[in-house]
Amino acid sequence: MKAVICKKYGEPEVLKLAEVPKPIPKDNEVCVKIHATAVTNSDIFIRSSKLPFPIIIPFRLMIGITGPRKLIIGLVYSGEIETVGKNIKRFKPGDLVYGITGFTLGAYAEYVCLKEKDSKVGCISFKPYNLSHEEATMVAYGGLLAFQYLEQGNIQQEQKVLIYGASGTSGTLAVQIAKKLGAEVTGVCSTANLEMVKSLGADYVIDYTKQDSVPQGLYFDFILDSVGKAKTSKLKDSCKKALSANGKYTSIDNGALINSSQRLNKIKDYAEFGYIKPVLDKIYPLEEIVEAHRYVEKGHKKGGVAITVKQK
Ligand SMILES: NC(=O)c1ccc[n+]([C@@H]2O[C@H](COP(=O)([O-])OP(=O)(O)OC[C@H]3O[C@@H](n4cnc5c(N)ncnc54)[C@H](OP(=O)(O)O)[C@@H]3O)[C@@H](O)[C@H]2O)c1
Repeated sequence: MKAVICKKYGEPEVLKLAEVPKPIPKDNEVCVKIHATAVTNSDIFIRSSKLPFPIIIPFRLMIGITGPRKLIIGLVYSGEIETVGKNIKRFKPGDLVYGITGFTLGAYAEYVCLKEKDSKVGCISFKPYNLSHEEATMVAYGGLLAFQYLEQGNIQQEQKVLIYGASGTSGTLAVQIAKKLGAEVTGVCSTANLEMVKSLGADYVIDYTKQDSVPQGLYFDFILDSVGKAKTSKLKDSCKKALSANGKYTSIDNGALINSSQRLNKIKDYAEFGYIKPVLDKIYPLEEIVEAHRYVEKGHKKGGVAITVKQK
C-alpha cells in the first residue's frame, strides 16, 4: 500500500512517500481503508520533535529517540472498515468510521489496523453521516480536544466563557460547543479571523494583535487556552487575571488527549444535529504531505488542514 514514512525527526522534507506492506488485522482489530487524514499540530510535533526542554525527554522516550518508532505517522483518520478480526463485535466491512490512532499513528497511509475498544492505541466510532471524510478528521481531533477540556469547565447556561485561540482546529469547535451549552462566548484570534470566529457564534471577539489586555471589569467563569503553551501574547497573560471568583483557567496542553469513542459519538450527534461545523482551511492530496506540513507549521491555519487519501 501507499504510505508516508518518517525515518528521522526534521523539517517537512523528512516525510517520504513509499510502498509498504498492507497491515493485516489481528482477531481484536479492524482494518480501516483510509479516505482522509489531517495535518494536526500533534503531527507536526511528532515529525519535527521541536519541543522545549524538559517535555522533549518523555516525548522522545515515548515516540522514539532519533525518529518516530512507528515509521508511518499520522494521528487522525476517516474511512471505511475493510476487514474485521474474528472477535470484532461493533463493526462490519463497509461501515464508515472515524477517530484517532493514538500511539499506533499510521494514518498517513491507505490502510491502518486498529483495536475496536478505546486504548492508548486509538479510538474508533461511526462517522457523522453529513460530513465528508476530510471534515470528519477536523471534528475528530478538534472535537475530542474541545470536549475534553470544556468538560473541565462544567459550563452552565449564561456563564461567560473565553476561548483563547478561537480560530484553530480545537478553538473553532470549542466556540461552537460552548455556545450550544448556553454560554456567552468570547473568542480571541487575530484580525484576519475575527469575522470567521463571529460566524461560528461567538458573542464577542478580541484581537490579540491589537489588544494587550482584557477590558477592565470583564470577568470569565471559564477560560480555555486552545492554542497551547507554545503560543502566547500579552493578552493571554491578562486573560489569566480576568477570572470570576470561582472561575477556572485551563490550557489544552494540561494532560494527554484521551482516546474516547464515547466522545466521538457525542461529536457525531453534535455534527448531525448541526450544532458544530468543521472549519477546513485547505485540503491536500497525500502526495503533497510535505507542502501541507510546511503550511500548518506556519501556525496560522484557519480551523484545520485535511489530506485526501486516494485509493489505487
Ligand atoms: N493535551 C494534549 O494531549 C494535546 C493533544 C493535541 C494537541 N494539543 C495542543 O492543542 C493545540 C491546539 O491545536 P489546534 O490545531 O487546535 O490549534 P492551532 O493550530 O494551535 O491554532 C491555530 C490558530 O492559532 C492562532 N494563534 C496563533 N498564535 C496565536 C497566539 N499567540 N494567540 C492566539 N492565537 C494564536 C492562529 O490564529 P490567528 O491566525 O488568528 O493568529 C490559528 O488560527 C496544539 O498546539 C497542542 O499544543 C494538546
